[in-house]
Formats: sequence, C-alpha cells, structure tokens
Amino acid sequence: MAEPIILETHNLRREFGALVAVDGVSLQVRARTLHSIIGPNGAGKTTFFNLLSGNLKPTGGRIVYKGQDITRLPVHKTAHLGIGRSFQITNIFPNLTVLENIRLSCQALGRDNFRFWKSHRRLQQYEERAWTVVNQVGLAEQALLPARMLPHGAQRKLELGMILAPDPELLLLDEPTAGMASEQVPELMALIQTIQAGGQKTVMLVEHNMNVVMNYSGRITVMHHGAVLAEGAPSEIAANEMVQTAYLGELYRNVIE
Ligand SMILES: Nc1ncnc2c1ncn2[C@@H]1O[C@H](COP(=O)(O)OP(=O)(O)OP(=O)(O)O)[C@@H](O)[C@H]1O
Ligand SMILES: [Mg+2]
Repeated sequence: MAEPIILETHNLRREFGALVAVDGVSLQVRARTLHSIIGPNGAGKTTFFNLLSGNLKPTGGRIVYKGQDITRLPVHKTAHLGIGRSFQITNIFPNLTVLENIRLSCQALGRDNFRFWKSHRRLQQYEERAWTVVNQVGLAEQALLPARMLPHGAQRKLELGMILAPDPELLLLDEPTAGMASEQVPELMALIQTIQAGGQKTVMLVEHNMNVVMNYSGRITVMHHGAVLAEGAPSEIAANEMVQTAYLGELYRNVIE
C-alpha cells in the first residue's frame, strides 16, 4: 500500500523582484520515502526548501504538512511541527564540542530555552538525547572535540546530528554531500538511509551528485527555471529526454563561461 502524503505544495511561488525563483511548484511527498529535488544551478531548489521550512515567505500558493496549512508559518513553528532542515553551507558552532553542538539543537526546541533556571532533570535529558544522536551519526569518539577540529566529512555528519537532535519527522537536506571527497559520500548516504528507513522518517534531498540521486531516491522531482520539469522514479528520470537536455544545457554553459 502506498504511504500517505506527508507534504504537498500547491502552485507554490516566490519572486525576488522580477525574478521568479519558484514558479508554481505543485508536488506531493509520501511519508517515509527519500524524495530528491534535482536541477541545474539556480533552478530554485534552495528557495523551495526555504519556503517549506518557513525561512522565506511564499508570494503565492500553499504548503500543507500532515493535513495542516503551514504556508505562512515561521521557521520555529515548522520546526515544532517536526520539519528539520539543513543548509547548503556548514552551519555549526566551531568552538563548541560535537556534543555541545548537538545538545544545543536538542535544547533549541525545548520549552525552557530562555529560562534562566533550568531543572537538573531536563538538562540531563538533553545530555542523554545528545549522546544518543552522537552515537547514531557515528561521532562518539570525537564527541568532546571542538567541532572545528573535525574533518569536513565529519562536520557534515555533525550537521546531520544537529538536524536529527529534536527528532524531526521530515528532514530537508540541502546538498548534504557538498564538498565531500567522493570516497566519503557512500558512508554519509548510508547514514542518511539508515536514519530515513530505520527511523521511519521522510527525507527530502537536494543533491547534485547524480550517483547519489539515482541510487538512494525513491522518487525524484526535477526543477528547471523555478518550475517542475519532470517527476518520477529514478529510472524514469534517467531516461527523460527533457531532463537530459536541461542538464546538458547547463554543462554547456559552464564550459563556455
Ligand atoms: N534572497 C534572494 N534574493 C534575490 N535572488 C535570489 C535570492 N535567493 C535566491 N535568488 C535567486 O533565485 C534563483 C534560484 O536560486 P536558488 O538558490 O533557489 O537555486 P538552487 O537551485 O538552489 O541553485 P544551486 O544548485 O546553485 O544551489 C537564482 O537565480 C538566485 O540567484
Ligand atoms: Mg541551492
């Protein structure tokens, strides 16, 4: 039986002045799947994620998450509803330890984060949760090191841990393998897959690495100039001529620049 729809957008739109960055995107994401968004540079993928997470307000259209209209909710509200997101650039506190970075992400969603006095019991819960996540992302041995001392690949695992810390149901991962050495990519992707399948979570992934996209996605949406160009299973997308043309066009532009 098909999984229920966890997230859908209807004609979602975002302009920046005259530029239409997201141009009437309607899509449906099924729960407990890994759904990738691909497309050339500037296609609107990050902007689309920013709209879903509440980091940006749409100029038109609707977003429905688990049956609830979240179109105009700010990021802290979408986070409370179980949407966690990463950014294309590394977003960690370099001087805090790995454990502290993850613990802060647990606390950020706790009810008492602005209270001066915190119960000992609550702090202990955050600490325990942080250790669980540190183990889950395979950083137990580095837990007490400042984050800046981690190699890039481990920093990306830490970012994943920071998103995972408040136990979101839907993870929006914007190029999680960006900047990683290619031999490190399978390990991170295996980790993302374990989190998705083992934890019964939904993952939306923006990714440029085609091997990653084809090997790990259940479904792929292709964006081009802000709009959906194609959608389907990896085999359908790989065989789609419009998709090939969009990518080849992009490659060509990169070559002549
Ligand atoms: N805050 C902003 N103000 C003005 N223009 C923006 C803003 N954010 C994005 N854009 C523009 O919107 C378009 C879509 O950008 P976006 O970052 O969403 O693309 P992308 O698909 O994530 O690209 P990449 O693969 O390079 O990350 C681009 O033309 C970009 O320059
Ligand atoms: Mg982007």
